[in-house]
Amino acid sequence: MNNTIQRTAVLTGATSDRGIGITTARRYASHGWAVVILDLDGEKSAKVATDIGNEFNVPAYGHEIDVASEESVNAAYRAVAAEVRSGNLPPVGALANIAGITSPVAFLETTLELWNKVMAVNSTGTYLVTKAFLPDMIASGWGRIVNMSSVSAQRGGGVFGKVPYSAAKAAILGFTKALAREIGSTGVTVNAITPGAVDTNIRVGSTDEQEAAINAGIPVGRNASTEEIAAVITFLSSEESAYLTGTTIDINGGSHIH
Ligand SMILES: NC(=O)c1ccc[n+]([C@@H]2O[C@H](COP(=O)([O-])OP(=O)(O)OC[C@H]3O[C@@H](n4cnc5c(N)ncnc54)[C@H](O)[C@@H]3O)[C@@H](O)[C@H]2O)c1
Repeated sequence: MNNTIQRTAVLTGATSDRGIGITTARRYASHGWAVVILDLDGEKSAKVATDIGNEFNVPAYGHEIDVASEESVNAAYRAVAAEVRSGNLPPVGALANIAGITSPVAFLETTLELWNKVMAVNSTGTYLVTKAFLPDMIASGWGRIVNMSSVSAQRGGGVFGKVPYSAAKAAILGFTKALAREIGSTGVTVNAITPGAVDTNIRVGSTDEQEAAINAGIPVGRNASTEEIAAVITFLSSEESAYLTGTTIDINGGSHIH
């Protein structure tokens, strides 16, 4: 699983203190990957990257990105590409599209603005960032793209996020499958993961009752740790995963068995 030919893993949504992204970035680095941290706050992204780079002795770089903005995504891509060209980072080998937001608003109370925002960050963001970073991976003949969906896409919510979140995360599954098919011969794989409840800050504002109801629906009886999600993302980025493409890997403690 070690990144023997040194490559860079680019992660979006990887500065949240208890988030999946930061844990995944640390895991990539622990396997010898250089890491790029892209998140809304550029300073925080740079700091997280520096800390991880120092801890694991790998090249690391952070830059701001709003994954919902084409302009911002392209600016982040250009900054990363310049780091690669100047030799500060090895070529980009993996992209983990982790940035996301959820929303617990009941359907009839949703607004078009909320719908658009949830779709923009989760699904359009995955589209824009992939479109920016994919050409270099294809040119190098090797790449791994891992897209963050959710069990909510498969079972119609039931964790915390409601209709817009389920729809946005379901779009990511179709995106993943169609892109995997289209670029299958290029050496770049495209896969999705569908975590159930993970112990992070994303459900800030949820009540104890809501959390108890979530755990009651999980045969394993608890949330996933961020490490358990990161392990699957880094496996899907490894050499050994070359024959997995277009798949969806469930990481849900049995909360959705199908
Ligand atoms: N925690 C869960 O239970 C769970 C379950 C399934 C899927 N997921 C998904 O995993 C991903 C990470 O979730 P988390 O629980 O670590 O959440 P989190 O809220 O801790 O982290 C989300 C990160 O995305 C970033 N982000 C938000 N909007 C952005 C934008 N427009 N541009 C760039 N970055 C942006 C945030 O700044 C943050 O760092 C999300 O896509 C989420 O939907 C989470």
